[in-house]
Amino acid sequence: MPQRKKISLIGAGNIGGELAILAARRELGDVVLLDIPDKEGVAKGKALDIMQTCALDGHDANVVGTSDYADIAGSDVVIVTAGVPRKPGMSRDDLLSINLKIMRSVATNVKEHAPNALVIVISNPLDAMVYEMKKITGFPRERVIGMAGALDSARFQCFLAEAAGVSVKDVNALVLGGHGDTMVPCLSYTTIKGVKVTSLLPADQLDAMIERTRKGGGEIVQLMGTSAYVAPAAGAMSMAESYLKAQRRTIACAAYLQGEYGYSDIYMGVPVIIGGEGMERVVEIELSAEEKSMLEESAKHVRELIDAASKL
Ligand code: NAI
Ligand code: 2OP
Repeated sequence: MPQRKKISLIGAGNIGGELAILAARRELGDVVLLDIPDKEGVAKGKALDIMQTCALDGHDANVVGTSDYADIAGSDVVIVTAGVPRKPGMSRDDLLSINLKIMRSVATNVKEHAPNALVIVISNPLDAMVYEMKKITGFPRERVIGMAGALDSARFQCFLAEAAGVSVKDVNALVLGGHGDTMVPCLSYTTIKGVKVTSLLPADQLDAMIERTRKGGGEIVQLMGTSAYVAPAAGAMSMAESYLKAQRRTIACAAYLQGEYGYSDIYMGVPVIIGGEGMERVVEIELSAEEKSMLEESAKHVRELIDAASKL
């Protein structure tokens, strides 16, 4: 009998729990929620709660909680949220040293126990964490990607729809670069039903929305005392789904660049096609001079983080 797909979630905290709910509700496969031994009870409890929701709603998915990496064997997808989130006043970069240690241990275990999985990293600082995951696992770039562009683009879409007074379904936005304050919302590829947003909204309003998008994570941290977890989970699950169903969707993701956009040996947010082979292609789009210069600034910042990580 054909088996269901297997999705392992490393970190059973806020985003991990949301990811498990989405995977089960969309019947993408069976789910393993893994956390450290101290939090095994939380992982098991969330798993039971979600299984019981599946019984109520009529969804077929087995969800288990564990702290044993042997349970992720045979995973098709591994999504990593292990680490600590931001507290008010902290930047994503402030998390580097603590989350780097965690990422190194997670990556070593993923390499050993799920050598064939597509790995999606969410932990911050995202671009340095996904770089570390690739470095330690040695997996091909097609199978190690980072989630940020999907979320940052969704935030921009949300603000644009509200300002223009239109359905968010008709707004298409693209945010490139590192997942930080230097991210690059690309106005030239941002449209409402195919019409360039620059011809629909005034420049000062667009500038304010770009700034709000760049600070969009911090805005939520300030309000909630911890970082966002519903939209980040939805962003990562759309990437996983595109892989599991070979949808070949174009999604902005942190991808390992090998010459694309003029950059190499770096992870940065770019549009990619995710299909049955994983990150099948980096889509190279033409950028304006201003966008290129913003991307350069963002790449410089990501490079500094990766260099700092290599010294820790
Ligand atoms: P959380 O604190 O709710 O969950 C993190 C979980 O990781 C905790 O349950 C913790 O026990 C677990 N963990 C710690 N060390 C571990 C290890 N060695 N192995 C397995 N699990 C371990 O945090 P939340 O809100 O789920 O966020 C997770 C990460 O995602 C944070 O680093 C946060 O900054 C980041 N994030 C990234 C976004 C993005 O766009 N890339 C968006 C939002 C958050
Ligand atoms: C976010 O953008 C903090 O990276 C996290 O919500």
